[in-house]
Amino acid sequence: MTKGLFITFEGGDGCGKTTQIKLIDEYLQNKGYKTLLTREPGSKGLGIKLREILLNYDGEVSPTCESFLFLADRAQHVDCIIKPALEAGVIVLCDRHTDSTVAYQGYGRGLDIEQIHRLNKIATSGLKPDLTIVLDVDVETSQARVGNEKDRMESAGVEFFERVRNGFLEIAKLEPNRVKVIDSKQSIEQIHQQILELIKNEF
Ligand code: TYD
Repeated sequence: MTKGLFITFEGGDGCGKTTQIKLIDEYLQNKGYKTLLTREPGSKGLGIKLREILLNYDGEVSPTCESFLFLADRAQHVDCIIKPALEAGVIVLCDRHTDSTVAYQGYGRGLDIEQIHRLNKIATSGLKPDLTIVLDVDVETSQARVGNEKDRMESAGVEFFERVRNGFLEIAKLEPNRVKVIDSKQSIEQIHQQILELIKNEF
């Protein structure tokens, strides 16, 4: 049993997660809560090295290898950073987690989704987010927000990102209690208010 709260933020590239996580972090800290804002891949230490490979390596990377690298980062992140924080009663706000592997490597790259669920379970030792917020954005908007300077993952084609988006929406349909979808075409303030409502329900 953990004492803290584990909230993950998911969605396609350029969906506005990073802005929203920062706003929620500020809000919770102003209310006096202890928070940890972290991310996958690569929050710190070894994770930063894995992130560098995952986003910038310019040779061939097989989808299975890619999955294992994201999962390796996750295992390290959960064991060394997330679990200790939760045990200390901290609210952990995590920019991407298990659902990204299901959406990107499963739905996007076409790997077996059940197998990814099993691997995620090993990487997290069964830890699950209390709440997951998916910021849903159409691929055209997402591509425009990402711009021309794309990393290795962002360089995949439009069809890949359609599958990823569909993947996140499927995940939300399958786990409606944990996963909530917010339309990220709304204003920053509207999205923030909706996220706050969802988080308040967790207390
Ligand atoms: P990042 O720069 O953190 O992007 P964003 O701001 O959109 O979160 O890059 C992370 C990239 O890695 C992003 O394209 C999604 C991808 N990713 C996966 O494909 N699988 C995963 O399991 C995770 C955690 C991320």
